[in-house]
Amino acid sequence: MDQPLVWMNGALVEYDSAKISIEDRGFQFSDGIYEVVRAVEGRYFAFQPHLDRMRLSLKSVEIEVSMSDSDFRSVADTLLAQSHEREVTLYIQITRGTAPRSHVIPRNTTPTLIMILRPFHRMDETVYTNGVKVITVEDQRWLRCDVKTTGLLANGLARERARRANADDAIFVRDGWVTEGTSTNVFMVQNGEVITPMADHRILRGITRDVVLSLARERALKTMEREIGLGEFKQAGEAFFTSTTMEVLPVVEIDQTPVGSGKVGLVTRLLRESYQNVLRGVTGGR
Ligand code: PDD
Repeated sequence: MDQPLVWMNGALVEYDSAKISIEDRGFQFSDGIYEVVRAVEGRYFAFQPHLDRMRLSLKSVEIEVSMSDSDFRSVADTLLAQSHEREVTLYIQITRGTAPRSHVIPRNTTPTLIMILRPFHRMDETVYTNGVKVITVEDQRWLRCDVKTTGLLANGLARERARRANADDAIFVRDGWVTEGTSTNVFMVQNGEVITPMADHRILRGITRDVVLSLARERALKTMEREIGLGEFKQAGEAFFTSTTMEVLPVVEIDQTPVGSGKVGLVTRLLRESYQNVLRGVTGGR
């Protein structure tokens, strides 16, 4: 694949000629939402949950699209077939559309719809065997983090702070509570219990998060969705991130302090392997 494949407002377009208006509200106001879906071994993983979440995001920001789920699926399938790739990410973005700049939300704009398919390269295996180091940063995002909007400036700035601190990523903390990573959900393991912040307005309810929670339960591990204080989090035996692109990624250091033994923990490894199996269609439904 020379270039990402692009579908825009109803048609396949060349990557280089895919352009949006300077008056697109996505560009001027981050007035839009997105999803990132993966295909693994030539098949999309958890497409329906991603579409369901996309509908929730659209509803929350009051953007209406006429495409049905099967319309989305059929474009996604066409792009995948055309790519001849087996490991890809599909980025779907929907903005409110184009209108002269005004804070007043315009009526009757036609949403801008974009899908970009590109090859997916998994992070090196050593990243998973060694785990990653993170810093904590104040969560300066808005109070609707459950909506997957394209307004990701605070996420990007937090990620940049991590880079400058020679860390791999940052974990957001709001009022002393751990919320999530810059593009991941966060978990801790304490006394064999798998704990993650509850899915309220402060976090995105990750598709990977939900799969991992059910995998943990299937393996007879206790799970809990509740608030996690930063102090408690730093005392955890194990910690890990989850996301579509990072899968189950062990966190071994927080603010220069080792998590547990400082090595990838047993429960994390078990969940990572279980998730891999589901992702590759070895076990469970997709
Ligand atoms: N990020 N939290 C945030 C803030 C995210 O941006 C993401 C996903 C997640 C994990 O969600 P899921 O398991 O459904 O991928 C949690 C995507 C991958 C991204 O922005 O590229």
